[in-house]
Amino acid sequence: MIVSEIKDGIYTIFLQDWDRRLFDELIPLPDGTTYNSYFLFDEKNVLIDTADPVKTEKLFEALKRLNVKKIDYVVSNHSEQDHSGSLPDLISKFPEAKIVVSEKGKKFLTSLLLIPEEKFIVIKDGEVLSIGEKKLRFIEAPWVHWPETILTYEEKNKVLFSCDLFGSHLATSKIYSCENEIYEPAKRYYAEIMMPFRTHIKKHLEKIEKVDIDLIAPSHGPIHNSPPFIIDAYKDWISDNVKNEVVIPYISMHGSVAKMVDYFIDRLTEKGIVVKPFNLSKTDIGQLAISFVDAATVIIASPTVLAGPHPLIFYASYLFKILRPKTKFLSIIGSYAWGTNMVKLLSEMVPSRDIEVLEPIVIKGYPKEDDFDLLDNLAERIYIKHKENKII
Ligand code: FEO
Repeated sequence: MIVSEIKDGIYTIFLQDWDRRLFDELIPLPDGTTYNSYFLFDEKNVLIDTADPVKTEKLFEALKRLNVKKIDYVVSNHSEQDHSGSLPDLISKFPEAKIVVSEKGKKFLTSLLLIPEEKFIVIKDGEVLSIGEKKLRFIEAPWVHWPETILTYEEKNKVLFSCDLFGSHLATSKIYSCENEIYEPAKRYYAEIMMPFRTHIKKHLEKIEKVDIDLIAPSHGPIHNSPPFIIDAYKDWISDNVKNEVVIPYISMHGSVAKMVDYFIDRLTEKGIVVKPFNLSKTDIGQLAISFVDAATVIIASPTVLAGPHPLIFYASYLFKILRPKTKFLSIIGSYAWGTNMVKLLSEMVPSRDIEVLEPIVIKGYPKEDDFDLLDNLAERIYIKHKENKII
């Protein structure tokens, strides 16, 4: 637990979950996570966000350490249970507390946590709540990554409480982020959670850039005391710019696809293209998601299983589709023994947006000389596409 004053009358309540290894029963957390709340003392006392239900007792312990006798407002920036899960217990312990939310946030908290209607104060975009010397301005920021989210800006101390936005799943005993330690966890967090919403984030960043921010205080991971670093990283990730990289999620059952991938990697590398292969039987799916953030091209490589692609390839392709990366070019390579519908089945996984599909190469059995020629041609086509699009 980190309970510490970061600005005059503003305290962190960082509850580390050192051992958590999966989020939403889906997202790998190699470095654990933290659930961050913030307590603001003034004429009115305010708690910004709560914690995951598994940490409710720790949250109460922190409030005791801060000698909190009353809570006037609980700002719920985001209704997902890792930040709202302690609310039912909190409002029973502090019955005077009102929950400050967006209209949609109220609907979520009513339906997900069965909180009675009379507990809420609904705020609108730009509204300011004075709590004494401190003033809280609310900024609606839908789709980072739920539709109800708000950011809270404390005007006197210039602190932006950004909830999930700019967060990182990183259990740490540090209050402030260190640039070279935070980049990778923050990028992983963006890739897994924020990437599908990059057009929304673009608009939110335009709003945020007009605000004078001294600290960005997210609800996971350490605080950013150098806001331009994380804002610039986000600007890069959400931009339409791609890198001269080819990502190859692949599976090989009996060596044919592995031989194709191995040969293909060498041909691409010779052309100065950075290649990131991911053997899906071993890979951390989060690393694959990170690689999707920037790569110009994705090549899916699969054997045939019961006439279709390997199930792990289906999984990775579905992930690719729903994460909506800015990838420009896509293709499939693979092998079959007696028949395949692989290309037809995988084509349903192509995102419904501007992405150019290059002619797939699906061969019979182990690759032969003609098949290597086809791979040479595909490597050359990718090189030309990257060049034509000024990616190289
Ligand atoms: Fe950290 Fe969307 O909850």
